Amino acid sequence: MQLSILTKMYHRAQFLLELLSEKQQIKAASLGRAFFMRKFANQSLKTSFIPDKKYSRRLWGIEFRSPIMNSAGMFKNGEGYDVVAAMGAGAYIGGTSTANPRNGNEKHGIKLPFITLPNSNIAVNWLGLPNYGDEYLSKLVITNNKVVGCPIGWSVMRSPDFSEDEGMEKLVASLFLYQENKQIDFIEVNESCPNVKNGGGSIIPRLTIIAEKFLKNRNRHLPVIVKLSNDLTQAIIEELLPKIIQLGFDGINLGNTSTNYKRYSSNVSGNDKLLFEYFTETFGGGLSGRVLKDNSLQICIIAARIVAKMHLNREFHIIRSGGIENSADIVQSEQCGCSLTQWYTGFFNAYDKFGDDVYSSLFRN
Ligand SMILES: Cc1cc2nc3c(=O)[nH]c(=O)nc-3n(C[C@H](O)[C@H](O)[C@H](O)COP(=O)(O)O)c2cc1C
Repeated sequence: MQLSILTKMYHRAQFLLELLSEKQQIKAASLGRAFFMRKFANQSLKTSFIPDKKYSRRLWGIEFRSPIMNSAGMFKNGEGYDVVAAMGAGAYIGGTSTANPRNGNEKHGIKLPFITLPNSNIAVNWLGLPNYGDEYLSKLVITNNKVVGCPIGWSVMRSPDFSEDEGMEKLVASLFLYQENKQIDFIEVNESCPNVKNGGGSIIPRLTIIAEKFLKNRNRHLPVIVKLSNDLTQAIIEELLPKIIQLGFDGINLGNTSTNYKRYSSNVSGNDKLLFEYFTETFGGGLSGRVLKDNSLQICIIAARIVAKMHLNREFHIIRSGGIENSADIVQSEQCGCSLTQWYTGFFNAYDKFGDDVYSSLFRN
């Protein structure tokens, strides 16, 4: 059966899932997500969509045929490029990967806990960076059919399984490994994952190590952007962003999931409340989806003002991630100074409605 039809059936049967206990619902959804993602990434689509030339842009000298792509974590092991390229994505990003292979989180018999709150357009995940590790992933052939205008990004992060110093050393080594994979056009350094125990330290000293050891020694044109959390305050962005620019990074992504449950609990609809509370109290995890839309826009506006004031004589791009669902969100992001947008939760909500037309549906109007 076609995957898009299976997805619709799953969503229509959601009311049956709601008859189960919270724990059982999360177990079913987590298993279902893993199963679905394997099927999704391994499809071979018969048709393809090419966005109109007018949506194309050249950033850092790389052609993006439209301003919208998946966000990190959707294809953790570099799978699925051919699928989203055929659907019409403006770019692709794989990872987040770490130096060592990781199985991800498991608790109370639930592997890679994940849930969607169907009445609130929110997802919560506590996956914990499962991936095959940089040694293997950096050598991967991501596609045999790279599409012009659909470049490849890779998201990489310091592994939380080592001390901060050792983790940074390994991360720098990984960056050099990915530099050798000529299919990869840009790198995203993930400084924002909420689902791992952080080894302390602070962002700027870590980014300084990357700048000194990697950015200054790149042997080819390989833009590196930094992905931060959606939970950053204006004061923190004002402190971090000028330093990130001065260090020589090429862009910023705002941003990752939120762990500010208190702030967003009022956005959770009645029926979803128990599930939300059970998940966040049992696992923690990051919130994604519509709930982040206003915040991601606000912090991108703050970032754009800072970048504009600095009158840079080189390219530095802002990418918005968090609550992107439709063409209006993309237009609004561009108007506030973002060069690209990424989607994850909104992508799968749109896939439920539009199936393989998930990207082309954005360009209909
Ligand atoms: C299941 C899941 C796994 C994710 N894994 C990662 C990851 O590995 N690396 C990362 O930078 N962000 C990860 N994210 C965060 C997304 O990339 C994105 O920044 C966040 O979900 C906000 O966008 P959205 O509202 O469009 O979902 C993950 C999100 C979800 C829902």
